Amino acid sequence: AATRHHMWEISYQFTSPDCVRKLAVTINGQTPGPTIKAVQGDTIVVVVKNSLMTENVAIHWHGIRQIGTPWADGTEGVTQCPILPGDTFTYTFVVDRPGTYMYHAHYGMQRSAGLNGMIVVEVPPGQPEPFAYERDHTVLLNDWWHKSTYEQAAGLASVPMVWVGEPQSLLINGRGRFVNCSSEASCNVTHPDCSPPEFPVVPGKTYRFRIASVTSLSALNFEIEGHEMTVVEADGHYVKPFVVKNLNIYSGETYSVLITANQDPNRNYWLASNVVSRRPGTPTGTAVLSYYGGRSSPRARPPTSPPAGPAWNDTAYRVRQSLATVAHPAHVVAPPARSDRTILLLNTQNKIDGRMKWALNNVSFALPHTPYLVAMKRGLLGAYDERPPPETYDHAGYDVFSVQKNPNATTSDGLYRLQFSSVVDVVLQNANMLTANSSETHPWHLHGHDFWVLGYGAGRFDPAVHPATYNLKDPIMKNTVAVHPFGWTALRFRADNPGVWAFHCHIEAHFFMGMGVVFEEGVERVGELPPEIMGCGKTRGGH
Ligand code: C2O
Ligand code: CU
Repeated sequence: AATRHHMWEISYQFTSPDCVRKLAVTINGQTPGPTIKAVQGDTIVVVVKNSLMTENVAIHWHGIRQIGTPWADGTEGVTQCPILPGDTFTYTFVVDRPGTYMYHAHYGMQRSAGLNGMIVVEVPPGQPEPFAYERDHTVLLNDWWHKSTYEQAAGLASVPMVWVGEPQSLLINGRGRFVNCSSEASCNVTHPDCSPPEFPVVPGKTYRFRIASVTSLSALNFEIEGHEMTVVEADGHYVKPFVVKNLNIYSGETYSVLITANQDPNRNYWLASNVVSRRPGTPTGTAVLSYYGGRSSPRARPPTSPPAGPAWNDTAYRVRQSLATVAHPAHVVAPPARSDRTILLLNTQNKIDGRMKWALNNVSFALPHTPYLVAMKRGLLGAYDERPPPETYDHAGYDVFSVQKNPNATTSDGLYRLQFSSVVDVVLQNANMLTANSSETHPWHLHGHDFWVLGYGAGRFDPAVHPATYNLKDPIMKNTVAVHPFGWTALRFRADNPGVWAFHCHIEAHFFMGMGVVFEEGVERVGELPPEIMGCGKTRGGH
């Protein structure tokens, strides 16, 4: 296996991803950052120099389990102190599984400022995959605001809250087009940053599109006009292939789809992303599927209007895709038949001191000032609340379809300590928000693991009934899963990766407002911590 070195300088640059000039956090001047390409088993070394001047940074390798390197997970407050302006930090980790992953900032709401990109891990040469294709294309989906992430964060923490609102644009590989260009002085439709991305295809050939969503807020529907897609991979795991006209993808998820260039080659076709699950306030994001060898120029715009996607509020349609996503028959990893512990997490919108929050079992998560990994390994006392958050809620009495009676929550940086190697079930229960008749989709992401997706249900989860309906035969393994409106999602994982791991809603504003928890397992088995992860909170002077 190879070692692949990357030197990244993180800095603010003026960019125009949707033709409107905005400061973005860039890697070597680019947003999105470069795609990390590797082969299974390779070691990735990324030397990160923080040249933001007045802002910290940390980078998370989303979907990489960090086996043996929990300090390289890049989760500020959980696994490391932030990288201070002017400092350099080296992330070293092994990509132990093939598949499609991503990376992004994990500090404040910095991910939304442009620090993101993809990771593609190929199978070793000669090792077959359960499908064939000519070559691959990478598609990174994002949503984009003109307001700075500081203004967004300050608004979320204000009383009354100033919500971030719907994004101005949807980006594909960092490019989009703001529709009201004439209304913004700094908008320039001829700026090269916002020229539509092109995806070349040769008629008759089959392509693998590796698709990742790093959106801050939006659930998206992705479509390639006129072309059916066969879903073959989800979050690095082979899927029992199924065909879709369009694909729902939530923030933090990745998919591979196969498409065959079998349409009229004398024109081009749209790639389109559309908002679903929230009432859209953002125009379609577009790119061009360019046919080579036909009569039209590969650069020509398609003659049609871009696809508008399915109805934004068709939840049943999206649940069907979730249910269709199961393991490929030749690649089933059977889950343990039962769990040692079940944690039921009720997801609610709450208030604390008049501030809008999200909470699990009425506890809204706040990151500690000292990273858990260091505090636990070094026995630093008082670094976080040692009382664990509640394991369950009043599941028999709670009406998930109504606005809750007592919306007040508490804040905690307590965490769940899991017995090493035990099997843990988590059931995420979605509920009505603080507005009547509303419930959102929450994509939950687990660091350090892949979990089995055991089931989805509508309405209230009943621990006496629903576990009997779990799919223990061929559940897909994922690292991010949707919790659908008013529904529940059950997952299972083995707590066998020594470290401290965040588990949270991947909507940037929701995690910022407390929608997350943390798990610890086998921290005593973690090797010597690199001193570079320290330097904040109670770790100061500790080495
Ligand atoms: Cu992709 Cu904790 O996030
Ligand atoms: Cu959420």
